[in-house]
Amino acid sequence: MDSLETARVRGDFPLLERTVGGHRLAYLDSGATAQKPTCVIDAEQDFLTRSNAAVHRGAHTLAVEATEVFEASREAVARFVGADTDEIVWTKNATEALNLVAYGFANASAGLGGADAARFRVGPGETIVVTEMEHHANLVPWQQLAARTGARLRWLPLTDDGRLDLSDLDAIVDESTAVLAFTHVSNVLGTINDAARLVDRARQVGALTVLDACQSAAHLPLDLHALDVDFAAFSGHKMLGPTGIGALYGRKELLDALPPVLTGGSMITTVTLEETQFLPAPQRFEAGTQPVAQIVGLAAAVDYLAETGMETVAAHEAAIGEALLAGVRAVPGMRVLGPLDASLRIGTVSFDVEGVHAHDVGQFLDARGVAARVGHHCAQPLHRRYGITASTRVSSAIYTDEQDVEQFLAALAEVRAFFGVAA
Ligand code: ALA
Repeated sequence: MDSLETARVRGDFPLLERTVGGHRLAYLDSGATAQKPTCVIDAEQDFLTRSNAAVHRGAHTLAVEATEVFEASREAVARFVGADTDEIVWTKNATEALNLVAYGFANASAGLGGADAARFRVGPGETIVVTEMEHHANLVPWQQLAARTGARLRWLPLTDDGRLDLSDLDAIVDESTAVLAFTHVSNVLGTINDAARLVDRARQVGALTVLDACQSAAHLPLDLHALDVDFAAFSGHKMLGPTGIGALYGRKELLDALPPVLTGGSMITTVTLEETQFLPAPQRFEAGTQPVAQIVGLAAAVDYLAETGMETVAAHEAAIGEALLAGVRAVPGMRVLGPLDASLRIGTVSFDVEGVHAHDVGQFLDARGVAARVGHHCAQPLHRRYGITASTRVSSAIYTDEQDVEQFLAALAEVRAFFGVAA
């Protein structure tokens, strides 16, 4: 199928050995959260067993060890996404990272951050541009920014086959545009967007770009410097890492000028009763005690992916995606959302089953050991665009194998007959 040794890889993920309702587990919900390899579980346990301490605030041995591993983890994650170490800010997840940027703009617009933050001020007469395929995490914070500042929200629409419709790009992203926020890969459609073209247009009009890399970071080689985006966000738990940890990437000079959002300990240089001076990035965004065990786990996850090689991972998931897409299309009564050309997507396929609600499809699949996601996948506007309220999604990862695909397709072939809809 490809050069990835899937059987060996699957051996690294203990959860995949379990059964569900007496069936082999076919875990096809990695777009929601990925399973964890033993090295991630061990890294967290080792840290908690041997070195646990608060970082950047103690002279004792454990504090020094914890701080070293905390910063080494930042270096590993930065290397993995093609960034400099001090361009990576730890956040709880991508949602928090995206909110951190949007609220930074809001704080600047309210006058915080002084002259350095002027480039983040937005107001009436300016526009914030998103796309119709965003999941709510990269839509709602921008709606809120618009509501706070009087800026106007615009969006790039979708084509019928699930690509961004860029025919009016120059009119939608124009001189009024302060920010263009877009997803690298759609969490529903799997569509890989043309980031270079969007960044190019934003640069022409002086807009800042924010990339949601949630669905690309664990599936495609990612080089944020080469993509030339200004900010990017990703979640650890979708990248084989723990929950509770994600990151914001920002170009250093932008991060140093963006007003912080969470304020308190560990992000300051001088505090008087009247006012506070903030540390430069990334520390200015890392108030409070940090989730070091999760950070160490995330570093182990990206090292694991890097060791396998992201080109190899991408090729493996492309083959899985092609098999999923062709298989779903071959079952009568299935309407696939998104491009029918597998080369335009990652290994994620969402579809509507004619005559059966997505939640019923999900329960039917689960009864056969197949874990799929059903609902609106936190992307209601996208589903509205295609005239539905919910869909069923199967999504792959490094450990997904042909047996998962076959088990899912065998169950899918029976679903309409089971619910009394003509097969
Ligand atoms: N985390 C959400 C997903 O499953 C948005 O795609």
